Amino acid sequence: MRIDVLTLFPEMFESPMSYSILKRAQENGIAEIVLSNIREYSEDQKYHKVDDKPYGGGPGMVMMCQPVLSCFDNVKKQANGKWRTIMLTPQGKPFDQDKAVELSKEDRLILIAGRYEGFDERIRTALNAEEISIGDYCLSGGELAAMVVIDAVVRLLPGALGDDTSSEEESFSDGLLEYPQYTRPEDFRGLKVPPILLSGDHAKIAAWRMEQAIERTKRKRPDLWEKYSLRPENNQH
Ligand code: ADE
Repeated sequence: MRIDVLTLFPEMFESPMSYSILKRAQENGIAEIVLSNIREYSEDQKYHKVDDKPYGGGPGMVMMCQPVLSCFDNVKKQANGKWRTIMLTPQGKPFDQDKAVELSKEDRLILIAGRYEGFDERIRTALNAEEISIGDYCLSGGELAAMVVIDAVVRLLPGALGDDTSSEEESFSDGLLEYPQYTRPEDFRGLKVPPILLSGDHAKIAAWRMEQAIERTKRKRPDLWEKYSLRPENNQH
């Protein structure tokens, strides 16, 4: 998968993209992350201006059409085939695991991170892009949101986790929270590992884990539980 990010602050991406799964995925050719600096596309030779005051007045600055759309045109022509354009904004559809799975099936994503008070509305019109929000709060810009989307998507790409089954077993993959996990020692300051996990009985362990996942989801995330239990294939619980 190729992921292009259009941003005013490409440096913000360096550290999060250089560790662990994201680092390995790039080294192994599973994901290619290409950062483009919107400012470099500004036709304003003197100040490389990318934002201006809003028409009609009001606080803050608005990102101008020209630099964003010129940057987009340049990025678009760098690879063949289809792409999907996504703007990160608080007005977008809330991001969730289903969306991450959907995006992980694409060959190419173009993510656009805004700053300031937002984008000139004509950028939305021109690109007809999908908008994604990572939650109902205002960040200082779309960069952190783009990183969240990249992380959630890239770890789902085949081979990214090293072991293909591991992303299927975790929280959200089937709509439930993850069951409790334990590792050595068996007894830590009097806190013991549930004996069933030491029993070697794999069927019983699987049943216990399922019960725990259901109980946790009901207690901690009743909203997820409701969604889960409404699915026809899960009616038996
Ligand atoms: N930009 C600013 N806030 C955001 C949010 N919550 N999600 C996505 N992009 C944003």
